[in-house]
Amino acid sequence: MDATRYAAEKGAVRTLSDLSSKATAVVRDLLDAITRGREPEGLLGDARALFGEGGTLKGAADLRQAIRILLVKPGVQALLFYRLYRWLYLRGLRLLPEFMARLNFLLTGAEIDPGADIGAGCRIWHTAGVTIGRGVKLGRNVWILHNVTLGGRGASPFDPGEEGYPRIGDGVILYTGVTVLGNVEIGPGAVIGAHSLVLDSIPAGCLAYGIPARVMKSPSRH
Ligand SMILES: CC(C)(COP(=O)(O)OP(=O)(O)OC[C@H]1O[C@@H](n2cnc3c(N)ncnc32)[C@H](O)[C@@H]1OP(=O)(O)O)[C@@H](O)C(=O)NCCC(=O)NCCS
Repeated sequence: MDATRYAAEKGAVRTLSDLSSKATAVVRDLLDAITRGREPEGLLGDARALFGEGGTLKGAADLRQAIRILLVKPGVQALLFYRLYRWLYLRGLRLLPEFMARLNFLLTGAEIDPGADIGAGCRIWHTAGVTIGRGVKLGRNVWILHNVTLGGRGASPFDPGEEGYPRIGDGVILYTGVTVLGNVEIGPGAVIGAHSLVLDSIPAGCLAYGIPARVMKSPSRH
């Protein structure tokens, strides 16, 4: 066997053994999570936002409603699936979560990168065109409508630019078609009107809209 072939085979064996030890670690972690009742981060908060504070189902009517929601609400499906592949992503896997994100897009129309950090209780009311990029951070109980884009400000889709990613505070509402780009912060409780382009930070509790978005009502008048 020549040296090049030997090196290639050795490399392939190392890659396979890396993959199998990574897979073993993930399966061990998953079993551990199931047996100890640990949830993928954010899952219980999502359930609370959907089914009330208890986050539990009381009786057959609740159960029927839960099944209906899981079957027909694409926003719930998109988040549930995201929670699963985010969990895998946080355990060091890359290709599988990225592939699952692709399936999520095919199933629901929402493109949510496994590297996006979405807090518990998020609601995506309509999923079409929702795009949440790697590095974006959303607080708790954020509401998102269709065609919302959250991402970097770089000219190339593969380059976030120097400026980094948006941070969206707790309880923010992003109405349909809102685009938030770059290293900006939307303060807790702010509301951004339909089809706005946010390029600068918006203070907490304000109503802002327009291209570019400007604060139209501050909390005192809101
Ligand atoms: C931003 C929003 C919440 C503001 O509601 P509001 O405070 O009741 O505002 P008003 O409707 O009284 O409008 C006040 C002014 O702002 C303008 N305005 C309202 N929303 C705007 C927006 N998104 N972009 C630009 N201008 C807007 C109005 O034209 C009006 O202008 P005028 O004073 O010159 O006539 C609302 O307009 C909005 O964008 N809702 C989104 C709803 C949505 O996404 N629905 C999807 C359902 S599937």
